[in-house]
Amino acid sequence: MTYHEQPLRNSCILKIRQINDEYERCAGKRKTYYVLTFGCQMNAHDSEKLEGMLIEMGYVKADDWREADFVLHNTCCIRENAENKIYGSLGFFKRLKQTRPDVKIGLCGCMMQQDGVIEKIKKTYNCVDIIFGTFNLHRFPELLLANLETGNLIVDIWKEHSEADEDLPTERAYKHKAAINIMYGCNNFCSYCIVPYVRGRERSREPEEILREAAALVADGAKEILFLGQNVNSYAYGFANLLREASKLPGLLRIRFMTSHPKDLSDALIETIRDCDTICRHIHLPLQSGSTSVLGAMNRGYSKEDYLGLIEKIRREIPDVSITTDIIVGFPGETEEDFNDTLDAVQKADFSSAFTFLYSKREGTPAAQMPEVDADAVKSRFSRLMDMIKPRMYESNRKLIGKRMFVLADEVSKNNEDLLTGRADGNMPVHFKADKSLIGEMLEIEIIDCKTFYLLGRVLEWPN
Ligand code: SAH
Ligand code: SF4
Ligand code: F3S
Repeated sequence: MTYHEQPLRNSCILKIRQINDEYERCAGKRKTYYVLTFGCQMNAHDSEKLEGMLIEMGYVKADDWREADFVLHNTCCIRENAENKIYGSLGFFKRLKQTRPDVKIGLCGCMMQQDGVIEKIKKTYNCVDIIFGTFNLHRFPELLLANLETGNLIVDIWKEHSEADEDLPTERAYKHKAAINIMYGCNNFCSYCIVPYVRGRERSREPEEILREAAALVADGAKEILFLGQNVNSYAYGFANLLREASKLPGLLRIRFMTSHPKDLSDALIETIRDCDTICRHIHLPLQSGSTSVLGAMNRGYSKEDYLGLIEKIRREIPDVSITTDIIVGFPGETEEDFNDTLDAVQKADFSSAFTFLYSKREGTPAAQMPEVDADAVKSRFSRLMDMIKPRMYESNRKLIGKRMFVLADEVSKNNEDLLTGRADGNMPVHFKADKSLIGEMLEIEIIDCKTFYLLGRVLEWPN
């Protein structure tokens, strides 16, 4: 961070707070905000920082995003449908602004770093007030102030990362769990993926700094910490060591991490997970494809056999581990034979859960130059893959019926107000009947039933 950035940010925050205080004196209510977050955990964590700054600027969170005075979209561009959601939302606000011209609209995040997007937005969506990217979150107050003072569209996109967003205030989504970026960006350049272009080169944070942040979060009530990186296994200062050190933090009950790239997963990591009880027995290990030739074209750096061998090794050391995955269907050039290799790998790997995606062409990536697979063939493969995965997920859940496990209660269940939802050690969602006051507690639960995507449990014990 350059030395002058923080004072500048603070003075902009203060000025916006004065503007918002003045508004309250006249209008009798405070200006409200809403951050609409798209995409992955990285974005979710960035949004906690954006909310932290908004609160310092004197905004209060709106109950409903449609009614907020300032709506910030933290965007994702991993697949085309992620982008379409943003354009859909902008269409909504373009109409809304005809009746409520004072509403402010902001855009930030991965999609803003992509070539051509800002031109398109400028041309079609004149409802937007400020635009920034993934490398300059810390400039948000300055940019918003510039817009408030001039009424002009303010655009600021950087091409490289700065360290300045590490000490931003955060409004954490949950008191009992928190995320920490251990690294930024990605160097892997999987041939289909936009992330290296919009999040820049890989940079690891110093372990001391990460452990200090973790200790502060624990002191602030976090029982579970999630270490975030696009490929945590290539963490520059040794990921297994970082985990081992973090597992010694007093008061920290659980450590999770995302995402593990199969090509860099070390024996030391497997041993560390095996040896440290605090580290959850869950590895998210994206397979992407079961075909060695497709994996080559994807630039993944492993074969089908490497992957299955790795899983075998992990299971030998950590028998109760839960392994989850990501799979892309219809990568350019994928043949029926390639796809059958994916089905075969799924059959052998015994995943607890799998996220499946239709390949989506991303301009600027090498795969965008490759010939696409016929859309009907892709659809048929996708449904065959789901037909294979779903009963396996159900079976993997069914085996847990009757087992006792610890579940960290996260929130009231989205579909049933009488239930709470939490995560088991292996990251399976568990729903159970319990009072709201137990949110944030680690509960011992007996699994009594299951569906394909979740477990149902009964609370055995809770702390007094
Ligand atoms: N860094 C993580 C993945 C982050 S993106 C890793 O390498 O494992 C999350 C998932 O989105 C990927 O695992 C991949 O399955 C999927 N994905 C990425 N680019 C995609 C594309 N162009 N089309 C479809 N799915 C894609
Ligand atoms: Fe994308 Fe590959 Fe990096 Fe994951 S490892 S973010 S899939 S380039
Ligand atoms: Fe994540 Fe989407 Fe960006 S998946 S890193 S928010 S492109």
